[in-house]
Amino acid sequence: MPAIEEIQSHLPKIQRFGAGLVGVFVGGTSGIGERTAREFVRYAVNPRVYLIGRSQEAATRIQSEFHELNPTSEVEFIKADASQLCNVDAVCRQIKAQESKINLLFLSVGIFHFRGREETPEGLDRRLALDFYSRLRFTENLLPLLRQAAREPSAESSAQPSPLASVVSVLGGGREKSIDTSDLSLKHKYSLGAATQHATTMTTLSFARLAAGQNNAGVTFFHTRPGMVKTNGDRELGAAFRSVLGVFIKIFKAWTVPVQDAGERGLWAATSSAFEPGQVHLVAEDSERLDNAKVLKQLEEDGTSSKVWEHTREVFREICSSPAGKY
Ligand SMILES: NC(=O)c1ccc[n+]([C@@H]2O[C@H](COP(=O)([O-])OP(=O)(O)OC[C@H]3O[C@@H](n4cnc5c(N)ncnc54)[C@H](OP(=O)(O)O)[C@@H]3O)[C@@H](O)[C@H]2O)c1
Repeated sequence: MPAIEEIQSHLPKIQRFGAGLVGVFVGGTSGIGERTAREFVRYAVNPRVYLIGRSQEAATRIQSEFHELNPTSEVEFIKADASQLCNVDAVCRQIKAQESKINLLFLSVGIFHFRGREETPEGLDRRLALDFYSRLRFTENLLPLLRQAAREPSAESSAQPSPLASVVSVLGGGREKSIDTSDLSLKHKYSLGAATQHATTMTTLSFARLAAGQNNAGVTFFHTRPGMVKTNGDRELGAAFRSVLGVFIKIFKAWTVPVQDAGERGLWAATSSAFEPGQVHLVAEDSERLDNAKVLKQLEEDGTSSKVWEHTREVFREICSSPAGKY
């Protein structure tokens, strides 16, 4: 397990990728996404950063802090409700109009609540939409720009032959399990556990498909598990539950991950040469690789992976007016 000091000493090395890196942080206005974006801004040379979220107030604060941290950075906020795929498409169109490449797509958008299934106007559960469908739609839409980043010659020597082109989804990597393929979008049998399970498993299976595509050989996919991190992630829970959670976190402090560490470890994974492109890597809160190969092989062999892929195509076809990028 790389110690946090080792991780921190690696981060300035992202300058080896050269100036003008572009990072898109979906869920970058709070928590793990904000902290990862902050480290990206701190160390990259002339970076351009897109923060996607709903809170203008948070974005204004972060933009000013980032500018102070690195006056050569450009930080743009795109306000959008990312639980709706039509909004995801509009955000991606805007980014594509402004950029020709993306070096890092960091997906940490999400909510936590106990209210049960909540339908978006597009008919998806809001939580599952944010954790899975929206993140995959961002990935597919922006893959052409990630591929372009992967093609750019690296500023660095043979010590770092691959340019930076990474996609990171922060959720539950390594916890993939068998899921109910007769109700993938959980229209009928919703529960909090099932929503987490479906999003986790569907993410890894979908990333594995994308990573296996010949065109994406230069792009590195990550599904990370952040551990228990104290963020604003509890904002949709009632006051009583938040107090209980606060006490719980105090008691189990030794097992929690400081949000700063989560940001540093998130950026480390995405920029480390330890992870080969063209694959999906499952990474734990302590930056160790996770191995769930046996379960994933089973999910390929029993047809789950194909069903998830076809189901997602159908959801995208039904909801989105334009096709995603060619994966
Ligand atoms: N923290 C943990 O202990 C933990 C553990 C395991 C997994 N995770 C997962 O890690 C991810 C990040 O968690 P976090 O703790 O960093 O959460 P967080 O601090 O609450 O950040 C969530 C981000 O998502 C954005 N967001 C939420 N709903 C949105 C919507 N409809 N449209 C656009 N943006 C939206 C929020 O921005 P706005 O408020 O500006 O909309 C915020 O930037 C989540 O998926 C969470 O489930 C977290």
